[in-house]
Amino acid sequence: MSNEDTPRKRTPSAAKSGARKSPAKATARAKTPAKAKTPVKRGAASRPAKSAAPRPSIREMSGGATVTDPAPTQPAGTFGEELLRVEHLVKHFPVLRGIIFKSKVGTVQAVDDVSLSIRQGETLGVVGESGCGKSTTARTVLRLLEPTSGAIYYNGQDIVKFNKDQMRRLRREMQIIFQDPFASLNPRMTVRSIVSEPLVIHGIYEKSGGAKYVADLLERVGLNPEHGNRYPHEFSGGQRQRIGVARALALKPKLIICDEPVSALDVSVQAQILNLLEDLQNEFGLTYMFIAHDLSVVRHISDRVAVMYLGKVVEQADRDTLYERPMHPYTQALISAVPIPDPQKERDRKRIILEGDLPSPLNPPPACRFHTRCWKAQQICRDVEPPLEDHGNGHLVACHFAEEAKVL
Ligand SMILES: Nc1ncnc2c1ncn2[C@@H]1O[C@H](COP(=O)(O)OP(=O)(O)OP(=O)(O)O)[C@@H](O)[C@H]1O
Ligand code: SF4
Ligand SMILES: [Mg+2]
Repeated sequence: MSNEDTPRKRTPSAAKSGARKSPAKATARAKTPAKAKTPVKRGAASRPAKSAAPRPSIREMSGGATVTDPAPTQPAGTFGEELLRVEHLVKHFPVLRGIIFKSKVGTVQAVDDVSLSIRQGETLGVVGESGCGKSTTARTVLRLLEPTSGAIYYNGQDIVKFNKDQMRRLRREMQIIFQDPFASLNPRMTVRSIVSEPLVIHGIYEKSGGAKYVADLLERVGLNPEHGNRYPHEFSGGQRQRIGVARALALKPKLIICDEPVSALDVSVQAQILNLLEDLQNEFGLTYMFIAHDLSVVRHISDRVAVMYLGKVVEQADRDTLYERPMHPYTQALISAVPIPDPQKERDRKRIILEGDLPSPLNPPPACRFHTRCWKAQQICRDVEPPLEDHGNGHLVACHFAEEAKVL
C-alpha cells in the first residue's frame, strides 16, 4: 500500500490493513458512540440492531480474491421496515440502425422481470457475471434510467409514478457510489466542490456552515480536510473512492447503491473501503444495495444476496444459506470458483466449470436462460421458464430441478 493510500485520519477499522474485525470487536465498536464532531449524525434510535451481528472476516486477500469466514447471519426481524421493493422490473434498450431515419432492429433485454426488496439497515448483495444487468438494475431503481415496466416502491410509494420535482426531492435519500472513482469525479472540480455539489444543487449549502460541513465529511471518510482544494487526479484510487463516498453521504441519504465500489481498487485498499462502508452503515443506519462480481466481497458485506443471470434473478437467500446451501446450478458454479484458504480443502473440492460465454441479452435463450450452459438441463428447461419460487425461509430459486449442494 502506498503512502498515498493511507488516509491521514483513519477510522479504527480502516487502520487495520486487510484484517477484518473479529465478531467481538465488531460488537464492541458498535457500542462506541459516534464521534461528536460528525456532522451527519442521526439519532441512535434510527439505527437498526444490525451492528450487533458479526460479519465474516476477510482472512486472505490474494490474486484479487477475498476469502471470508462463515458467520451467523442477522435474523431478518432485527432490520427495520422495508425501504425498497422492486416488482417485476424490466429495462429493455432498443437497438436502432440508420443515421437520419432510425429503425429498431432489436432489443437488449438487460433487465427482465427482476423483483427485490431491502429492509432499512440491511445490505442486499447483487452478484453475477459481467453484462448480466446489475448496473442497469441499479440505475433503473434510482430512475437514472426509465424502466420499461415494473414498479419501484420506496417507503411504500411507487416512485415510477413520481414527477421530476418529486424525484428531485427523493434523490436526497437515494445515492449511488460508482465503480470507477476517477471517471465519476469531475477532473476540473476541486474535492470541496465535488462533495458540496449535491448540497448546492438541493439549495442547502450555506456559505458559513457549508465549508465546515464538507471538511467534517472529508474527515469522516478518512481524508484530510485540507485536501479539499485539490483535484481528483492528485489522489490514489482508494482516496478517490473515499471522495465518492463523502459525496454520496453529503445529503444524508437512507439508501446507497454501491455499484462495484471496490472492483477497481487494490485488495488492501478494498478492505479499507469495505470497512469504511460498514462503519458508516452502523453509524448512520444506512441501507445498501451492494453490487459486485467478487463473491467473497459480497459474502463479507451482505446480509442477503441475489444472484443475477442474463437480466434475471435466479436465486436469492440470506448470505449463509446462499453460500453454504446454494440450490441453483449457476450459483453452485459461481461459488465453486471461490478460492478456499485451506490448501487441502481446496484440492479436494470439485470445481464446476461453466462452458461457453454469457449469451447475448439481444437474443437470450428461451425458457430458462441458463439452459445453454447448464449440465442439468432437460427438455422442460428449454420449453418452460422456471418461476422464482420460495423453497423455505425466503430462499428463492428459479430452477425446475433446484436442490441443495455443498460446494464451498
Ligand atoms: N444504454 C444502453 N444501451 C444498450 N445496451 C445497454 C445499455 N446499457 C447497458 N446495456 C447492455 O445491457 C446489458 C447489461 O449491462 P449492465 O451494465 O447492466 O451489466 P453489469 O451486470 O453491470 O455488467 P458489469 O459487471 O460489466 O458492470 C449489457 O449487455 C449491456 O451491453
Ligand atoms: S431450469 Fe433447467 S436449465 Fe435452468 S438452471 Fe434449472 S436445471 Fe438448469
Ligand atoms: Mg456494472
